Amino acid sequence: MNKFKTIEWKEDHVLMLDQRKLPTEETYIECKTSAHVAKAIKQMVIRGAPAIGVAAAMGIALGAKKIKTKNKKIFFEKLENICNELSKTRPTAVNLFWAVKRMNNLAQSLKDLEIEQIVSNLISEARLIYEQDIQICKNIGKMGANLIKKGNNVLTHCNAGALATAGYGTALGVLRAATEQGKNIHVYSTETRPFFQGSRLTAWELKKDNIPVTIITDSMAGHVMSTKHIDAVIVGADRIAANGDVANKIGTFSLSVLAKHHKIPFYVAAPLSTIDMNCPSGDKIPIEQRDPKEISTIKGKRIAADTDIYNPAFDITPGRNIDSIITERGVLKPPYKTTISKIMKN
Ligand code: MRU
Repeated sequence: MNKFKTIEWKEDHVLMLDQRKLPTEETYIECKTSAHVAKAIKQMVIRGAPAIGVAAAMGIALGAKKIKTKNKKIFFEKLENICNELSKTRPTAVNLFWAVKRMNNLAQSLKDLEIEQIVSNLISEARLIYEQDIQICKNIGKMGANLIKKGNNVLTHCNAGALATAGYGTALGVLRAATEQGKNIHVYSTETRPFFQGSRLTAWELKKDNIPVTIITDSMAGHVMSTKHIDAVIVGADRIAANGDVANKIGTFSLSVLAKHHKIPFYVAAPLSTIDMNCPSGDKIPIEQRDPKEISTIKGKRIAADTDIYNPAFDITPGRNIDSIITERGVLKPPYKTTISKIMKN
């Protein structure tokens, strides 16, 4: 289905589609070191919670491969530094920490093997995380497609598509699956200020798949919900607390309030790796603050008055505003504290 690759393991480097350049330029960058992968995540060459997790796993595998030592103590010290550097790139998407932990746990469990074997296992694991992510998104798609009816108008925010995952997508995975079932849906994609993930990325990948899409600015959402027939709102997630509160792209919370006002179902689609059982509620989720320049400039040119600027990258949508959380193993309904705890135990 996807006519592009978001990220790819290439043995001596990690290849990434440079999402900062889309939709006007389709260029790929080669990350040759783990530090380069970390920089790419921080600068949003690659973004979206599951894609960040895959990139971190590949970054660790690449970094481990490039460690030049025969001394195991030094190898593990360097590996720890690599994991720490990747963990510091972005704070909100829990998939990053989930992937680092999975890779690190594997390395620790193989401590008695030769360094070469540990490295080869880490590479296989990173590739597995990539493959599994695609399968998980397809399963999310299948689960969620049942909520979408023929001819539905669906509004989405930010980009929770193939570009935000190893491929296929979470929220857009649901819309892809509905399209594959012949449901002829139409998508409204919010622009998603300030990084324009909606107008640059979501609209770009939906167009490539011939899924009809209309771009609106973020401030049009209320008007569109009250004047166009919107059947559902569907978004992804960067971290889901144990009580069902969801951290996602800034603006998601406002959309959930508008959806509630208009009695439009509000869905979140995410893999189970996005659920953080160590976070009891949304107020415990760290919110990334980004460079004010993302708001004050466009392509290096100043567009805003020279004042103080506030740029939180995410907000928290309370679980009570969410009708369903679509995961690869099922569609969760409130009370989320109970349904999440049950699915995480299985
Ligand atoms: O800042 P970004 O572009 O990494 O934010 C991405 C989002 O908020 C997505 O909605 C979320 O990561 C889910 S992606 C499947």
